Amino acid sequence: MNNHKIAVIGGDGIGPEVVEEGLRVLRHVAALDGSFAFDCTAFPWGCEYYLKTGRMMPEDGMEQLAGFDAIYLGAVGAPGVPDHISLWDLLLKIRKGFDQYINLRPVKLLEGAPCPLKDVKRQDIDMVVVRENSEGEYAGAGDWLFPGQENEVVLQTGVFSRRGCQRVMRYAFELARSRGQSVTNITKSNALNYSMVYWDQIFAQVAKEYPDVPTHSYLVDAASMFFVKDPGRFQVVVTSNLFGDILTDLGAAIAGGMGLAAGANLNPERRYPSMFEPIHGSAPDIAGRGLANPLAAIWSASQMLDFFGHEDWGKRVLDAIQQVLVEGRDLTPDMGGTANTRQVADAVIRCLG
Ligand code: NAD
Ligand code: IPM
Ligand code: MN
Repeated sequence: MNNHKIAVIGGDGIGPEVVEEGLRVLRHVAALDGSFAFDCTAFPWGCEYYLKTGRMMPEDGMEQLAGFDAIYLGAVGAPGVPDHISLWDLLLKIRKGFDQYINLRPVKLLEGAPCPLKDVKRQDIDMVVVRENSEGEYAGAGDWLFPGQENEVVLQTGVFSRRGCQRVMRYAFELARSRGQSVTNITKSNALNYSMVYWDQIFAQVAKEYPDVPTHSYLVDAASMFFVKDPGRFQVVVTSNLFGDILTDLGAAIAGGMGLAAGANLNPERRYPSMFEPIHGSAPDIAGRGLANPLAAIWSASQMLDFFGHEDWGKRVLDAIQQVLVEGRDLTPDMGGTANTRQVADAVIRCLG
């Protein structure tokens, strides 16, 4: 029996609610298959833990996680703990500490999913955003000088390394080549005269290694406009950490909403565990009431199945999500339904057979 060791960090707000449902789906899949199992260990880390202990995770938290095959995370952040502390000491610490430099975020409008765009064909919203996930605007480099004084100055430095740019771009090109698709570079080299000029230069160099892969480049402002007006232009998208963060919430909005947007934080070399999480946050406005849509977390679980080499099951889970959307009976209020979190997952499990 192939045992996948999963570290489960539900986190805050709706995080634990959606992760619980994703785990039920994973266990169901394992039971149906019979040749693999999930060995899950829960870690009670997050903002409540912080308020009790003064830390988001124990001092040796990263060592505790290092032995797992994957991490399944809900969401982090709660009123009462400054977001930059909760996120930097848990979510971003894991992404960076485990060199999860690829953030893979599908933006695909499933059948039955609501779309606010007029005049856009469903099949035109089908892209994968490959977001740089280890450096860039999220490098955490900076300073805060003369706090509170007239001459106060705050610096937040973007860090773009040759290796960091090359590896995320090569990943995007490999993905595009395997799918017979184009790569679109999203940049801002007209204004960011060091970082993004350099980014574009590396993009051009890497593109030469893949002469068979068509490429496009857009400035991020124009790209945002085309996400809405003409999303069919995009297939594989590669972009920086901050642009990728913002564009994938926009992507979520055109592809069914935050309740459907999934993501994987990958260390492709598998030196460290990769982490699977919905891209939404802890949604304190709806937490604790059974209103959270678990489909994003379940889709992330499907990405985990892909990553473990169970692509057939990853696809079946995605098909089951789609079937639930098409049936339209078991959906949470964000999708216009009246079902609760548990009932949506029950429907996915039913569709899996
Ligand atoms: P959010 O994604 O939590 O919520 C934005 C809106 O989308 C809210 O109206 C919320 O109710 C809705 N929403 C989100 N997920 C949903 C779901 N599964 N089902 C139904 N509705 C859903 O973003 P926010 O409000 O900006 O942030 C709240 C907290 O989460 C903050 O502390 C923030 O820092 C944190 N955050 C964490 C992550 C993460 O852990 N990956 C991501 C984004 C935000
Ligand atoms: C996301 C989130 C995080 C990010 C925050 C919570 C640090 O918004 O995963 O999209 O910006 O990466
Ligand atoms: Mn985000």
